[in-house]
Amino acid sequence: MANNEDLLKKIIAHAKEYGFVFQSSEIYDGLSAVYDYAQNGSELKKNIRDYWWKAMVQMHENIVGIDSSIFMHPTVWKASGHVDAFNDPMIDNKDSKKRYRADVLVEDHMAKIEAKIDKEVAKAAKRFGDAFNEEEFKSTNPRVLANIEKIEGIKNRLYPAMENNDMDAFKNLIEDLEIACPMSGSKNWTEVRQFNLMFSTNMGATAEGATEIFLRPETAQGIFVNYLNVQKTGRMKIPFGIAQTGKAFRNEIVARQFIFRMREFEQMEMQFFVRPGEEMKWYEYWKDQRMKWHTSLGIPAEKFRFHDHDKLAHYANAAADIEFDFPMGFKELEGIHSRTDFDLSAHEKHSGKKLRYHDPELNQSYVPYVVETSIGLDRMFLAVMSNAYTEEELEDGNSRVVMKLPPVLAPYKVAIFPLTKKDGLPDKAREIMDNLKYDHMCFYEEKDAIGKRYRRHDAIGTPYCITVDHQTLEDNTVTIRERDSMKQERIAIDKISGVVSEGLKVRH
Ligand code: GAP
Repeated sequence: MANNEDLLKKIIAHAKEYGFVFQSSEIYDGLSAVYDYAQNGSELKKNIRDYWWKAMVQMHENIVGIDSSIFMHPTVWKASGHVDAFNDPMIDNKDSKKRYRADVLVEDHMAKIEAKIDKEVAKAAKRFGDAFNEEEFKSTNPRVLANIEKIEGIKNRLYPAMENNDMDAFKNLIEDLEIACPMSGSKNWTEVRQFNLMFSTNMGATAEGATEIFLRPETAQGIFVNYLNVQKTGRMKIPFGIAQTGKAFRNEIVARQFIFRMREFEQMEMQFFVRPGEEMKWYEYWKDQRMKWHTSLGIPAEKFRFHDHDKLAHYANAAADIEFDFPMGFKELEGIHSRTDFDLSAHEKHSGKKLRYHDPELNQSYVPYVVETSIGLDRMFLAVMSNAYTEEELEDGNSRVVMKLPPVLAPYKVAIFPLTKKDGLPDKAREIMDNLKYDHMCFYEEKDAIGKRYRRHDAIGTPYCITVDHQTLEDNTVTIRERDSMKQERIAIDKISGVVSEGLKVRH
């Protein structure tokens, strides 16, 4: 298998070649950090979204879904804190004219030091073999200790700078660490400035009468402002949740790593409204549930890990990320946040409307606390693609690229091939397809040799291929070939749907 950087490049190339993801406006050389999902990608993305919706809404009686609009009253973003605090510290290199996030420059610098530690550890592990004790080595080796101390020293300056939005402290840190621009190698930096990540536009016909409005940077606020309407019309009792999926927009300073960090992306969020004081119980519950959702797809558990936040946002009293082992290393895939009553109380204050819930059991009114789960659909797409991408050497000396997608997420579930274009085989294949397509996404192919057709469907992750041959005309049986094992079996036509459905089942 390729090294990790190569792997990301290969996934990007594969995504383009096989109709998963294209650069937006490619004929105009693209638009930075904006991507389009193509014929196979949009199916995969939809299936991930459906799988999430099913787990969150269909499987929970006390969770309902909504679809709120992207545009919202501008005061929403004042109340939520986004107008004043949804900022990143940015810095420009005067020679390369490249713009960076100041905190990311420092974090990348720390990652380099961490890589040195990992290298020392790997070298020692090789030297000592089975007798190697990593913890002991790390706590005694002088070079490792010196590097750990360096990292701690940097964190002790970085975190307060982030906490206090201290732009001078960022600048001093970058200078003291002698961080150079990765493009030009120069240390000729501008001052560090705050940069608000929200996109804005104008609503209204005339320039004078127009109001500045924002493209939502998260879907969550659409849930908060609708919470009481949903509670009342749905007769929801606390604890209950509201889920939604939809586009969000952030003018990211550093947009890179393909669909990992985009300027237009999609979120799948659920806000769970609970009694004040019960939020930690539900926070633990949702951490556990969300991790189970990820592993239920058959992606190995060791590719996920929790990262508890040391530094909490002003509205949170607990927060953790679920990180995934992307080709670029472990990075945030999903956040689980205990947001207290921050958002609802802020909306009460700014709107002047009461957003209290009357708890019939306690006979009390209160502003509910909220535990949220928030996952980026595009990031999940990248996680699924990078886990699935497999290059295999076959016993016959050939090789194949196969996308070992969880079958439930695959764009097509069944491909149907007549062995030849003659003897009525295409008609028979079409007849099978016409029956199957009510239950499953099917793909009909009659061009090229069967082996080539198998390869094409391996490359887009189709879990089953059906071949219709002369025997089919005699006894109504077909060959069904399973993608990962490449095993072929002869089964009756009326068994196909059942076999495919069984293969798509997810075992929790
Ligand atoms: N409502 C909470 C919220 O928005 P967040 O941690 O800012 O929290 C949640 O975002 C998730 O959205 C992230 O874990 C990530 O998966 C996804 N996300 C955030 N910014 C993104 C971007 N620029 N491109 C793609 N996905 C992004």
